[in-house]
Amino acid sequence: MGWLEGDVALITGAGSGLGRALVDRFESEGARVVAFDRSPERVAAVEAAHQGTVVGVAGDVAVGEDNERAVAQALEAFGRLDTFIGNAGLFDYGARLADTPMETLDRGFDELIAVNVKGCLLGVKAALDALVAASGSVVLTASLSSRNAGVGGAIYTASKHAVVGLVEQLAFELAPEVRVNGVSPGFMRTDIRGPSALGLADRTLDSMPDLDQLARALLPLRFLPDPADYSGHYVQLASRANAAATTGVVVDCDGGFSVRGMPPLPGG
Ligand SMILES: NC(=O)c1ccc[n+]([C@@H]2O[C@H](COP(=O)([O-])OP(=O)(O)OC[C@H]3O[C@@H](n4cnc5c(N)ncnc54)[C@H](O)[C@@H]3O)[C@@H](O)[C@H]2O)c1
Repeated sequence: MGWLEGDVALITGAGSGLGRALVDRFESEGARVVAFDRSPERVAAVEAAHQGTVVGVAGDVAVGEDNERAVAQALEAFGRLDTFIGNAGLFDYGARLADTPMETLDRGFDELIAVNVKGCLLGVKAALDALVAASGSVVLTASLSSRNAGVGGAIYTASKHAVVGLVEQLAFELAPEVRVNGVSPGFMRTDIRGPSALGLADRTLDSMPDLDQLARALLPLRFLPDPADYSGHYVQLASRANAAATTGVVVDCDGGFSVRGMPPLPGG
């Protein structure tokens, strides 16, 4: 018996990386899933891998009607919605303020924040009535950049701090019917892209050969996690039986990055 038997989840950014791992894990825990992603090819691939238990929706999380269409699909296909997972995201690859021209910064901010922050907000808005009806929950993907500077640039770091703000504000507003929590993953090798306004539409973490080495050197836990390594936190937070009293919480699972400390002082 899985932890999410009979539940229905809507997962954004479900076509790749962490979102795809969440679809696989939620399905294995007994949930039926609506997999929402901008890429129609990825949506088709997820659907094909889980026939009968996963329904795909191609759309943009930054567009209100696309979120409404995804929620309508959950209700039409499965009759209910228990969990909304706002996970689609872009990364700014550490773009530095001083090196970014004003106009590029302006457009890059709008493009990234529209996905990482507005996408979560519009998704929860679209799902709200269904979540209230099911006494369901929300889980948003934050990041180690929700509490650490210097991995992302200012735009990404601000966007992931804002996700924590959404978790706390929405947990306050939506109680007692709907629990709202977040998960802050650390490094993982995925296909994550950047805003085209910053010239990062084709950049991916996937192509960084030294990511394993970096993780071993930097993280107290000394390994590069797979996306699936983060999925258990989402399952627990979504599970009524295992997180009934939990709302407004963001779970850090960053390999210890936030507690890495510093090397011994010379002579110390
Ligand atoms: N990769 C990391 O190291 C890392 C670390 C911490 C947090 N995260 C967060 O994890 C989440 C998932 O990222 P990932 O690394 O799995 O990336 P990914 O690119 O592998 O997966 C993200 C998916 O989101 C989709 N997407 C992008 N913009 C969209 C939009 N506007 N509408 C709908 N779908 C859209 C993409 O098509 C892609 O399939 C993001 O929120 C990211 O910030 C990633």
